[in-house]
Amino acid sequence: MMLLSLLLLAVIVHGGDNEDAFQGPTSFHLIQISTFANSTWTQNQGSGWLDDLQIHGWDSDSGNAIFLKPWSKGNFSDEEVVELEEVFRVYFIEFTREVQDIVSQLQFEYPFVIQGIAGCELHSGKAIQSFLRAGFEGLDFMSIKNHSCVPEPEGGSMAQWFCVLITQYQGIWGIIDTLLSETCPRYLLGVLDAGKAELQRQVKPEAWLSSGPTPGPGRLLLVCHVSGFYPKPVRAMWMRGEQEQPGTQQGDIITNADWTWYLRVTLDVAAGEASFYLFIFSIIFPLF
Ligand SMILES: *[C@@H]1O[C@H](CO)[C@@H](O)[C@H](O)[C@H]1NC(C)=O
Ligand SMILES: *[C@@H]1O[C@H](CO)[C@@H](O)[C@H](O)[C@H]1NC(C)=O
Ligand SMILES: *[C@@H]1O[C@H](CO)[C@@H](O)[C@H](O)[C@H]1NC(C)=O
Repeated sequence: MMLLSLLLLAVIVHGGDNEDAFQGPTSFHLIQISTFANSTWTQNQGSGWLDDLQIHGWDSDSGNAIFLKPWSKGNFSDEEVVELEEVFRVYFIEFTREVQDIVSQLQFEYPFVIQGIAGCELHSGKAIQSFLRAGFEGLDFMSIKNHSCVPEPEGGSMAQWFCVLITQYQGIWGIIDTLLSETCPRYLLGVLDAGKAELQRQVKPEAWLSSGPTPGPGRLLLVCHVSGFYPKPVRAMWMRGEQEQPGTQQGDIITNADWTWYLRVTLDVAAGEASFYLFIFSIIFPLF
């Protein structure tokens, strides 16, 4: 085990330029992943997210939402939540049946996966924009833009046909439109407020250094691990003197179970020069 005599500097900036400061998540979306294995076996997975933080699951056996946070219902009443659960329960059953029907009519091949994402996002100036996109086997299939069904080029003639069909079902179309343009914005504002204490909290990370697998003769891989920070937007780099090192490799920011984040940042250096390097990590906490 090699001892690294390195300096680590973690910079926690309070306030600063408030434009840059992260004020918490700004969007809510639902994700649907439906796997059709064969004519009798289908799995529907559902989840609800604020940006990349999960706040809802879906129990597909009982057809009930799972509220992962005490404030996941936002400011909606229990009655309204029960109504919405009923809408999604019926939706999953009907969706599965319709897709199975279409597959048998068009003699499609199993297995395949359908993915959907739908939600709304708060923009600066308080405008809220809704979105819905669906994909088939990992390719874009259709989306809703400005209250209209838009077939995606990758979806081919199937997507065009789908948009013509769905628009004819006025009842379903009306429900989708209301959920997107009325229910979602109202829910988003309510849940951001209900979860404010947790969504806008500030948590300082712990950091530690290690050396990675030797990149080659006479070389050393410096590894800095930073874990437990919240929120997610941070800056991390290896420096030598005043020089930011372009060879810095930043891994993906990975979620910890407690809604904090982990990051690993490496640099390949000459073995004898490890002590010249400095690690800088900065996170901007907004002033409230
Ligand atoms: C359908 O797929 C499921 C899950 O892969 C499998 O367990 C089941 O045996 C399949 N049924 C038929 C009729 O192929
Ligand atoms: C949205 O659709 C309406 C009519 O359905 C149209 O008048 C308007 O220009 C469209 N807006 C955009 C941004 O496409
Ligand atoms: C929840 O909060 C939003 C935003 O403040 C508001 O528009 C809505 O009326 C509130 N109540 C319900 C039940 O949605």
